[in-house]
Amino acid sequence: MLPIRRDFRFNLGSRDVLNWHERGPYVTHFFNTLSVFFPVGERFFMHAVRHYRDQITDPELKQAVTAFIGQEAMHGREHEAYNEAVSAAGMPVEAMEARVDRLLEYIKANRPKSMQLSATIALEHFTAIMADKLLADPSIMGDSDPVLTKIWNWHALEETEHKAVAYDVWAAVMEPGTSTYLKRSLGLVLATVIFWPLVANFHWRMVKADATLERGLVARVKGYVGLADFLFRSPGALRKTIPEWVDYFRPGFHPWDHDNKAFLEQLPAFEAEMQRMMEGPKAA
Ligand SMILES: [Fe+2]
Ligand SMILES: [Fe+2]
Repeated sequence: MLPIRRDFRFNLGSRDVLNWHERGPYVTHFFNTLSVFFPVGERFFMHAVRHYRDQITDPELKQAVTAFIGQEAMHGREHEAYNEAVSAAGMPVEAMEARVDRLLEYIKANRPKSMQLSATIALEHFTAIMADKLLADPSIMGDSDPVLTKIWNWHALEETEHKAVAYDVWAAVMEPGTSTYLKRSLGLVLATVIFWPLVANFHWRMVKADATLERGLVARVKGYVGLADFLFRSPGALRKTIPEWVDYFRPGFHPWDHDNKAFLEQLPAFEAEMQRMMEGPKAA
């Protein structure tokens, strides 16, 4: 599986970035919160993988690494533009990005390269399993804004396409055995306990900053019940990732053990549509 770097530009125009999801602003803020992590997080992934590039001898994996870096750079660029729009709408995006940046810079300076790669493959696993659910169930995006839906679909498709690259680098450069297994497993545990509380905190900050939202306890509870319903009941976007999260702890796990390559058959039609959109009127 050789990923391809695609230079797509999404024009957000003047759409309402605080309420673009079919299920309303609380779900919108959930997606926007994830977006906050991408530019900074993906730079960290690129850094972690780049460090080991010279140790890779397999020419195909070398090529895949270059494509992986290319794809993540494009994701970072487009999510940067997306985040700027969310920031312009009054959300404290810069402060949140700075917080993620400080955390990742700390890890870069104080944790071994192998742990940085372990965190990368763990977080790539998160993105891959969330992408899988998004691609498998059209009701996750439902009848949301078409351009934002496209951004998330594109990202999900490419995360699927390159889901094993960082993992294959790990497998190529680490000594097989128990300590590597434990280090990989620890990476997912740490990524989980650090990432999700931050997501929850950022989401809460978004909700607090959104002046368009109805205030008061009842309205807040209603909003959060709706979000919990979306994440854990129907469509259950996060609940459905749990079995694959657990599968990561299986010795001998590989991302392609869960074969969802069939989604990638959507890419040619998606590319053609993007070309039309980028050539067409600006606010397509
Ligand atoms: Fe990405
Ligand atoms: Fe990725």
